Amino acid sequence: MTIFQPDFLLHGADYNYEQWLDYPDILAQDFRLMGLAQCNVVSVGIFSWAMLEPAEGKYEFGWMDQMLDSLAENGVRAILATPSGAKPAWLAHAYPEVRVVDGNGRCEPHRLRHNHCPTSPIYRQKVRQINTLLAQRYKEHPALFMWHISNEYGSYDCRCDLCYNAFREWLQARYGTLEALNHAWWTTFWSHRYTDWSQIEPVDPSVHGLMLDWQRFISDQVLDFYLAEIEPLRAITPHVPITTNFMQPNVGLDYWKFAQYLDVVSWDSYPRWHSQPEGDTAVAVKTSFYHDLYRSLKRQPFLLMESTPSVTNWQGISRTKRPGLHLLSSLQAVAHGSNSAQYFQWRQSRGGEEKFHGAVVSHAGHEHTRVFREVTAVGAHLAQLQNVTTTCNQAQVALVYDLQNEWALDLARLPRSEDKLYQERCIAHYRPFWDAGITVDLIDSSTVDLTPYKLIIAPMLYMLRDGFADRLHQFVQAGGTLLLTYLSGLVNESDLCFIGDSPLRKLLGLWVEETDSLFAHHVQALHPMADNDLHLSGSYAATHFADIVHLDGAEALACYGHDFYAGQPALTVNRVGNGRCYYLATRPDSRFLHDFYTALSTQLDLPRAIPTPLPAGLTAQVRQNGREQYLFLMNFQPAPQTVNLGAAHYQDALSGDGVQDMVELEGYGLRVLRKEIG
Ligand code: GLA
Ligand code: ZN
Repeated sequence: MTIFQPDFLLHGADYNYEQWLDYPDILAQDFRLMGLAQCNVVSVGIFSWAMLEPAEGKYEFGWMDQMLDSLAENGVRAILATPSGAKPAWLAHAYPEVRVVDGNGRCEPHRLRHNHCPTSPIYRQKVRQINTLLAQRYKEHPALFMWHISNEYGSYDCRCDLCYNAFREWLQARYGTLEALNHAWWTTFWSHRYTDWSQIEPVDPSVHGLMLDWQRFISDQVLDFYLAEIEPLRAITPHVPITTNFMQPNVGLDYWKFAQYLDVVSWDSYPRWHSQPEGDTAVAVKTSFYHDLYRSLKRQPFLLMESTPSVTNWQGISRTKRPGLHLLSSLQAVAHGSNSAQYFQWRQSRGGEEKFHGAVVSHAGHEHTRVFREVTAVGAHLAQLQNVTTTCNQAQVALVYDLQNEWALDLARLPRSEDKLYQERCIAHYRPFWDAGITVDLIDSSTVDLTPYKLIIAPMLYMLRDGFADRLHQFVQAGGTLLLTYLSGLVNESDLCFIGDSPLRKLLGLWVEETDSLFAHHVQALHPMADNDLHLSGSYAATHFADIVHLDGAEALACYGHDFYAGQPALTVNRVGNGRCYYLATRPDSRFLHDFYTALSTQLDLPRAIPTPLPAGLTAQVRQNGREQYLFLMNFQPAPQTVNLGAAHYQDALSGDGVQDMVELEGYGLRVLRKEIG
């Protein structure tokens, strides 16, 4: 693996030079404008296959030579893409097997992009060929900075024979025998037993183990495709780091697994700013959660590979960013661990699907626009914050957001299948830490090391992977604090329910007898017990799910307020070894989560970005190394707000001016402060 450690923050965009070959004046302008905006990288060649190989085996690299030479002359580095994200027409027509087959057995016509069969040997061979040629040709080119593999790999749901056969082989490797598979999927139910591997088709939503394994297979197959893509690159350019741009997390690929094979994680962020009547805070929290996820995948800085400098053209409605928000949202990524702010796209295309998508350079073609000025401000900030690349965020709190758990939970048919809201609830548990300026890592429940953390929160961990209950037990035993909730530990990795004692029983010190499903008009109440050691009091609302539990070692901290189980435990704590395990038996309101985590954070003495409480809609995030700390104060409210830094002495990271006590932030304003530590 190549270690990616840039000594500067990357600023740039997807650059489609090849669309403008007939417009030399525009190409000349591009390099001037990149200089003005302090762009130091561009992602190139992403959709260039048809221009690189206009006919089978006939190559035209001249334009790319010229582009890379010009980039090098202008001090702009190239993140060079492999072109597999969109195939040329000749390829799709000569070899129909490269196209995705739908559920009705129809081969998709040649159109769009991101729609190839992940198994097709011919597609893999053609991709390998073009990737090899790119690597051989440009391996010594001074502009070549990083590989950008394909584009936004998706969960290609291809139903061709090649994919089905590969799935059956994957199942044989996983289960060995049909007997084992029939047991794991509980196929005696509804007479679904398979007597031959060839009978297995991933078309039955009632066989949950089957559909879960199909999702895992697709994810593995896309990863396998990626590994085939990078093989020639690793051989020819071992010194050049490799990434692929991820999307928002719930697209059907197990990014936790995928990330192990990247040198650096990168992702494309498109929040719906200004879409909510309540303002932008919820959008900001969700975006921060995603950034924290992408940092956590490798517990290393990541790259923001794409974001829009202004608007999108695919979200139905996309408002133009209010003044200041572009700088704020770009630096928000950096605050959570990104070493870049990059855009889709550099220049608005003249035609095609995305001609009205925002760009650094609009159809007007010059720098005298608000968007260009805001982009330039980002460039200026990043240029002055280079040392930030030597720092990262350090968390003592981890929140389990497990993508395979999400797939399994989505498939489950529960007494209340509406509003499972797995990701939303993970974000609800994350929110109090965002509000308080406490760093959170995200983890999944595979093999990740739990020892760096003081507090682990695992909402709705429906599927318990082999060994995870034991690892949680050890974590708590050794002094850790854990929170689990309703809908946890119900099934194993093949979606079979646990029978007898739950594997979590000892850890929780209780067992769940029933779960009540609440309609929207049923609101439960959660009443803290007198003198609970978190000092919770009053009453909180709870909705959707309510477990009725029996204590077996745990102590009740709050009880239900209504119905036949009023007075029974709704929040419990169990002391195990040197640690504690909390169980939240119901889905509480946000006020409860705020009060609960505030109390817990104080008890555990979790480090906060600054000691004083932050105003609503404003967060503070910290990146540090052993010597210095960067404090990012970010106001997602349109109105100005003031932050009290207390006694600490900071410097403004840009101007160098001393800063202490009260700091004023404009609406959608940002301050980056710095201090020496250690
Ligand atoms: C994605 C793609 C880009 C472009 C943008 C538009 O992130 O990777 O090619 O389509 O969306 O927002
Ligand atoms: Zn296929």
